[in-house]
Amino acid sequence: VITAAQPGQAPAGMAVGSFTSVSLEPPLIAFLPDRGSSSWPKIEQAGKFCVNVLSADQEQICRRFATKMPDKFAGLAWRPASSGAPIIEGVVAWVACEIESVQPAGDHYVVIGRVRELRLEKPGLPLLFYQGGYGRFLPLSMAAGEAPGLGDHLRLVDLVRDQMEAVSEELSCQCVAWAQIADELVILAHAGISSRRGASTLAGARLPFVPPLGSPWVAWGSDDLRRHWLAQIKDPNERSDYEARLASVVERGCSVGIPNPAHREFSRLLEQSAQSRASAAAASDFRRILEGLVYDPAELPTDDPGAVRIVSVPVLDRASKVRLVLTIYGFPRPTTDGDLQRIVDLARAAGNLATAHVRASY
Ligand SMILES: Cc1cc2nc3c(=O)[nH]c(=O)nc-3n(C[C@H](O)[C@H](O)[C@H](O)COP(=O)(O)O)c2cc1C
Repeated sequence: VITAAQPGQAPAGMAVGSFTSVSLEPPLIAFLPDRGSSSWPKIEQAGKFCVNVLSADQEQICRRFATKMPDKFAGLAWRPASSGAPIIEGVVAWVACEIESVQPAGDHYVVIGRVRELRLEKPGLPLLFYQGGYGRFLPLSMAAGEAPGLGDHLRLVDLVRDQMEAVSEELSCQCVAWAQIADELVILAHAGISSRRGASTLAGARLPFVPPLGSPWVAWGSDDLRRHWLAQIKDPNERSDYEARLASVVERGCSVGIPNPAHREFSRLLEQSAQSRASAAAASDFRRILEGLVYDPAELPTDDPGAVRIVSVPVLDRASKVRLVLTIYGFPRPTTDGDLQRIVDLARAAGNLATAHVRASY
């Protein structure tokens, strides 16, 4: 929705689908109003406008701004950008511009705007319009938005995206790619669609790199990393237990997780962290939840292959350093040892292919 306001007059606004980026240097965008639009002359007169990228739940707002009703802003919550142009509450992002040029083009105008101010308001999905219907983007995979320090890691994700999408389709599961960045584990990308309504992407979630989290990095990592990780276990008697778990990870070629109620709380924290882009460690009960998670038991429960619900595999570079970890979860519950073996084999195959792709560049 393109909005504009002038002192002493009601604000103007219109829904447009024709919005595009034009130039980065200088920052220019464009949209194309119809010559018959009654809102466009008001926007042109204001000389400034704001592009509001509606969120997936704002269909009614889009419909309203596609009508010719006299006061499209009645009862709508909004605040002015520095230029005064309305920012509609609940949008995914907004871009405030000054009009740079207006060119006639058939029965439309091409309006170029110079970007003066912009913000990503929230990490949700945008509203889409296609063949006369409204909908939302169902991502095959989604990467964490740009954040400081993630640049090189997001290039790595591009190298493994195909494997993430293939394995999530093959196993009807979800797949995330993690990186260890300093003392944190960051979910860089998420592929696959949750069957749970309202489930959101985990891309962007951050967790502390403390046991039992991150065993694949440690299992294939340096002695220094192993010492650093194990040192965070308070009870020295437990450390030998963790050594045995790390050995089982290398032996199996993957790390496995056996969910329990603590995992449900953990998943909830992960979703929260992905939404806020803040570390889940901030949650006060985080340590208690971590202690309840079960990863990499020495023996897998042979009588219950369905107990394994999470499988993680490493993606190595040429120096055999773990660059990423791919974790799959949400696959249909395995009912036989054969089912479980197939899942583990497919996860490992995805890890091996991803490793081959990464090794071509790193
Ligand atoms: C999804 C969608 C996309 C639209 N895209 C454009 C567009 O790119 N340009 C345009 O002039 N009108 C577009 N419209 C129609 C305008 O929203 C509508 O004609 C206009 O706002 C009518 O009111 P007005 O006279 O106040 O401008 C679109 C409408 C919808 C629902």
